[in-house]
Amino acid sequence: MSTNVADSQTSTPAAQSRPEPNATTAPADGLAPASDGFTWKRKHLLGLEDLSAEEIMHILHTAESFQEVSTRSIKKVPALRGRVVVNLFFEDSTRTRMSFTLAAQRLSADVLEFNTRVSSVSKGESLRDTVRNIEAMGVDTFIIRHPAGGAPEHITRCTDCHVINAGDGQHEHPTQGHIDIFTIRERNGRLEGLNVVIVGDIAHSRVARSNFWGLTRLGAKVTFVGPTTLVPRAFEQLGARVSHDLDAALKDADVVNMLRIQRERMTSQVFPSTEEYVRLFGLTRERMKKAKPDLLVMHPGPINRGVELASDVADGPQSSILRQVSNGLAIRMAVLFLLNQTSNGTG
Ligand code: CP
Repeated sequence: MSTNVADSQTSTPAAQSRPEPNATTAPADGLAPASDGFTWKRKHLLGLEDLSAEEIMHILHTAESFQEVSTRSIKKVPALRGRVVVNLFFEDSTRTRMSFTLAAQRLSADVLEFNTRVSSVSKGESLRDTVRNIEAMGVDTFIIRHPAGGAPEHITRCTDCHVINAGDGQHEHPTQGHIDIFTIRERNGRLEGLNVVIVGDIAHSRVARSNFWGLTRLGAKVTFVGPTTLVPRAFEQLGARVSHDLDAALKDADVVNMLRIQRERMTSQVFPSTEEYVRLFGLTRERMKKAKPDLLVMHPGPINRGVELASDVADGPQSSILRQVSNGLAIRMAVLFLLNQTSNGTG
């Protein structure tokens, strides 16, 4: 793609060429490609619950266009030259923060890194005042991670800038959701009809929620698996299947997404012991023998080796853990690009 989105400050990614079709880059899900004229209108990305199938697919297609940039010797395009992106993280992060920083840099945006520990938040400055003061420096996009669900939505009411949710409490983590959906579609060529099993701490997981909204909107079937304390039956009311038996759920699974046990969000002991959890819900080679031979193994990271999944599974041929991280760059480039093409869109 010589004159593509990547190289243009105005053209839409939809209009640009994509990699040659092959088993991993030509999904056959029948949804309209970005080049079919879909126009992105949202100013913010707060979650997948409110997105249409067309909007989700447009992000995936736009990300496909951006994947090529990371294969170049000079991994930089001028799409967001002159724009300023602020990483506003109130919670620790390795993947999301670095991936957003690199994505913005590859689009030629300037990036400001906000560090809570050495900011005036420690002197009592409110979130609203923090945002408004940074905005006054002339920035365009806030990327926010916050322990409180709804914090990014709150920020949209304090600023005229674009706001991207990089994970808010137990609510949503929309770019991780898109990464996981992108990776599943890349491997399987489709989403419609796939059985996706999401295992672990569903109750506290923003990744589980974003995956659920996006996957079901695109026609996949989602089963949540874990102990009753972490996977309440109430999730069935959303349209998910709920199981407390991983071996049974794995039998017809196409994808298994293993989630981290989030001890930092738990207020009580939710399973008797780690050993008990591993025995019932840990993914091991032995357990995978009962699943389809091409089961795709996912984890959004960070992983607890030997807890959610055994080390040889995490590093094994069916694991897409590092591929998810690589795909994160293209997804975040796509989201930054699309939002910054809008000025007065809907939220
Ligand atoms: N998957 C994910 O959000 O990882 P980080 O917490 O390291 O950003």
